[in-house]
Amino acid sequence: MDRNTDMFSNLPSSLLIIIASFLSFKEAARTCILSKQWLNIWREVENVDFDENNFVKLDESEENQKVQREVFINFARQFIANHSQQVIKTLGLRCSKPGNFLVDMQNIVMFATSHNATGLRLDFSDPTWREDAIMNHEAVFELPSHVYEHGQALESLKLFSCWFDASKFTNFSAIKSLSLGWININIGSILVILESCPLLETLRLKKCWNLEYFEISQPGLRLQNLVLDKCDIRHEWLAIEGPRFQFFKYSGKVGQFLLENQRDMVEAELDFGMQTEFEEVGAFLYDLLQELFAARILTVCSVFLQIIPSGDEPLGLQAPLDVRKLTLKTALHSNEYCGIKFMLRSSPRLETLTIDIGPARIFPDYEPPYPFDPEELWSRNFQVEFCVIETLRVVNVKGFKGTRNELYVLRYLLHFGRAMQELNLYASNEGGDNGENREFYMGRAQIVLGFYKASRNVSISVL
Ligand SMILES: *[C@@H]1O[C@H](CO)[C@@H](O)[C@H](O)[C@H]1NC(C)=O
Ligand SMILES: *[C@@H]1O[C@H](CO)[C@@H](O)[C@H](O)[C@H]1NC(C)=O
Ligand SMILES: *[C@@H]1O[C@H](CO)[C@@H](O)[C@H](O)[C@H]1NC(C)=O
Ligand SMILES: *[C@@H]1O[C@H](CO)[C@@H](O)[C@H](O)[C@H]1NC(C)=O
Repeated sequence: MDRNTDMFSNLPSSLLIIIASFLSFKEAARTCILSKQWLNIWREVENVDFDENNFVKLDESEENQKVQREVFINFARQFIANHSQQVIKTLGLRCSKPGNFLVDMQNIVMFATSHNATGLRLDFSDPTWREDAIMNHEAVFELPSHVYEHGQALESLKLFSCWFDASKFTNFSAIKSLSLGWININIGSILVILESCPLLETLRLKKCWNLEYFEISQPGLRLQNLVLDKCDIRHEWLAIEGPRFQFFKYSGKVGQFLLENQRDMVEAELDFGMQTEFEEVGAFLYDLLQELFAARILTVCSVFLQIIPSGDEPLGLQAPLDVRKLTLKTALHSNEYCGIKFMLRSSPRLETLTIDIGPARIFPDYEPPYPFDPEELWSRNFQVEFCVIETLRVVNVKGFKGTRNELYVLRYLLHFGRAMQELNLYASNEGGDNGENREFYMGRAQIVLGFYKASRNVSISVL
């Protein structure tokens, strides 16, 4: 370490500032123990991140956490007091109980605005809040008025559990990326924001509530990326007309989705883990999937797989998907089989299939769309999908345990997968800290090695 210190000591400060700005804020703060020179240098970093998580340990007592939070606030105070008039590009502030430090919070935010920061991330949500709970938490911090007044430089803004007034977004016309979370917001406010931020490319809403429905139909928007993450959309009704998305991610309940003209879609991710009951609403998901036809990369969840075949077309889409990489988040339960078949049938250009095995919501009152025998389904008796025979090259299984259901599916894919080149089995880490179970799962992979393979060229890795 001494030699390093000497080496750095010979560098001019201006260069050290550049080096420091490539380090994360946490690393930069750590470098100050190296030498006196660093002590001053790291204060010049352009991306400041005041993150309570680097100080407060959630597994310790309330009392300890209180002290740790005070140390955190003190650190931020010192930093601001000592900071010279250099550029601040972005500032992040995460503090879960800001109530006792409102003045400090104001000062930290003021520090960012007075330096014309282009990125501001304020997160006052509490890590103990549960994302899947219905409970709402009122924000205890309000965005200070100087942010609206000096917001012309802002290009990205994140406000979590931070109250704001959408009608005052008029100076935020340079914003390209906006994330709002843990907040009460209605669709009217979102439309006002879209009008104030004409350059907006990315909109993320996480755990927002009080949305009756979600509809964007203005022409001329640049919006390309939309993330709706566990928001409470009362009528589960979503309509998009105008913006052409490249990335769409939805996490919530099944609802009615109308996405018009999504020819530019590159990647879509659908998670209906919030759906608590089995309903035969496959038609809704069918329409949604049809609207996402252009996506090359697609991720769907277990609930999706159970519900998608419950509509009028249980076997697959009429107009196929363009998807090349498909990820199934699944428990590989037999409830999901018809949905998996549906997806394979609908994806005639599929090249990479990732089966990501994990816990899932399996509906006890599931009704299969057609009668089937779980083992028979993965045999020649059912029509083998085009992609399995012709285009599928790579199959990844994450969380492999070698259960009977996993073996049915893998035997099928190897048996008919003429174009298969790679099968990667990532053994599950579940259970047993000393890796005993892992050894067992890796042992089960030997069975897969013995299956008949239609491709002479397939290499099977157990990882
Ligand atoms: C500036 O930083 C030094 C060293 O960390 C500290 O001792 C001093 O109190 C700070 N000054 C102010 C005004 O906070
Ligand atoms: C911030 O921007 C304003 C207006 O563009 C300018 O007057 C001011 O000098 C800038 N401040 C810093 C610290 O760059
Ligand atoms: C927008 O910026 C101007 C100039 O800084 C300021 O006078 C005005 O109050 C700001 N608007 C809002 C809503 O804060
Ligand atoms: C065999 O696999 C390699 C890549 O692993 C591929 O480049 C090659 O084209 C394959 N050959 C045949 C005959 O499929």
